Amino acid sequence: MKPIIRLISCVLAFAPLGGQAASDADPSVTMGAQTYLQRCALCHGAFGMGEGPLPLALKNYPRTNLLDPHYPTDEASLRQQIIWGGSKGDMNPLSPPWGNELTWTQMESTIQFIRQLRVDTEQSVALLKKLNAEQTPVNIETGRNIYQGRCAICHGKTGKGDGRMAKIIKNPPPFNLTLSRAPDSYLYEFISKGGEAMGRSYRMPPWGEELSKPELESVIAYIKTLRR
Ligand code: HEC
Ligand code: HEC
Repeated sequence: MKPIIRLISCVLAFAPLGGQAASDADPSVTMGAQTYLQRCALCHGAFGMGEGPLPLALKNYPRTNLLDPHYPTDEASLRQQIIWGGSKGDMNPLSPPWGNELTWTQMESTIQFIRQLRVDTEQSVALLKKLNAEQTPVNIETGRNIYQGRCAICHGKTGKGDGRMAKIIKNPPPFNLTLSRAPDSYLYEFISKGGEAMGRSYRMPPWGEELSKPELESVIAYIKTLRR
């Protein structure tokens, strides 16, 4: 199981998420929070408390609560942890390296954000909620980025249900979305509430806390393009 999971963390680290290049801006806590939501929330949770959909779907996943750190929290150490993740052996290998994935501005912003999250949790959580609720345009491109970053790991790049996690998630496996014919209203409810709340498998995580309404609508528009 371990090597499979290691593969997953590589795949994620290289997943083409909405990496808007922002190298001309100054680092800011807000940009850090945006980067966090795009790249880190999957494992560290919508609010940094480790409640991400990935750990929730896997037994014995290492603790990812950023508010209860295992490693030194000074700025220089935090930078090293984010740049190298588990690739150098000091941290768990399930923790992806971000050094080649983030622009300098995104990296410095994320560091600022995590430091703020640890000293002023309430204000930082409010910022995450605000950004999550902000109007993202509903379009297929937004949906594609969300899908490739959050869903492809199980449902596969082209939706056939053959993502990396399909090797360990069976009975039922991740749904083959090219065969799905469910109407939008059902998809919206199912994706936001997750499988368990809808009387199906708990392995389909609930996304209502992770994704805003326009993001959910975008990902629905995108997965319908995968149908055949
Ligand atoms: C694929 C899942 C995954 C993603 C995505 C991810 N992490 Fe992690 N991260 C982990 C795991 C697992 C650990 C625990 C490592 C350990 O305990 O050795 C961790 C640990 C950390 C730590 C150390 C926390 C401590 O206990 O001191 C920091 C800091 C961190 N991650 C930052 C980030 C940032 C910033 C991002 C986004 C740019 C990110 N992570 C994205 C899985 C992930
Ligand atoms: C951890 C693995 C995993 C992730 C990540 C995941 N899913 Fe699923 N998904 C599943 C499983 C397993 C099922 C089958 C549930 C069942 O049939 O009981 C499923 C079923 C579905 C269905 C039902 C299709 C139908 O017609 O009934 C939709 C839609 C869906 N997922 C969309 C998504 C979207 C969108 C995302 C990303 C935001 C996502 N999934 C992320 C595992 C996952």
